[in-house]
Amino acid sequence: MALELVTSTKSPWDSFLLVNQFVINISMSAFCVHVNDDTPLFNAHYQLPHYAERVHQDVSIDVINPYWIDRVESGGLQVLRVELFYAPPGLDYVMGIHTDSGMGDRSKINWVFGGAGSLMHWYRVVNPKQKEQLVTPVGSQYNLYEPDEVKLMHSATIQNPAVVQIGVPHNITNPGQERWCYSMVITDPVTGSNAKFGSVKRIFTNN
Ligand SMILES: [Fe+2]
Repeated sequence: MALELVTSTKSPWDSFLLVNQFVINISMSAFCVHVNDDTPLFNAHYQLPHYAERVHQDVSIDVINPYWIDRVESGGLQVLRVELFYAPPGLDYVMGIHTDSGMGDRSKINWVFGGAGSLMHWYRVVNPKQKEQLVTPVGSQYNLYEPDEVKLMHSATIQNPAVVQIGVPHNITNPGQERWCYSMVITDPVTGSNAKFGSVKRIFTNN
């Protein structure tokens, strides 16, 4: 595919192709980067909750250690919210392959507790199909991909905390351990959108 060709036109399809080419070109280190900072995510007294089934919900910002909010804000970005993805014990599952808010360069910071053996996977699209805009239980938008639409590019164990790429098709596999993933949604006040992977990475790794 000629990259120059797709940059010269403006249709949504060409934009999609351009982003998919971006996915193919980026290095594995642009999917997931460990932040070497073990400052606790939570304020004292916060206890990990338990549920009977998988849960995706917002967490009160009051339980989050202000240290992390300050670090993001001092880098010129904002914490929009923190989400919890919870999975109960004994549930072996493969999460649907999806992008958060469509294809692009978007990132979050994730902390995973429990979930031994769980992996995060990233894919490129090889057989694109029309996408329906779907809405999560916390009101954010996502697109789902069938396994035959994508090809696996990279898998990683999340090491706390980690900057993760969420604008590229991704999912989680969990062999059945109880798992809590706290996901900090970071926005760029200049664009009003999810902060790019490089912007978040720069705050925490200085490069
Ligand atoms: Fe996601």
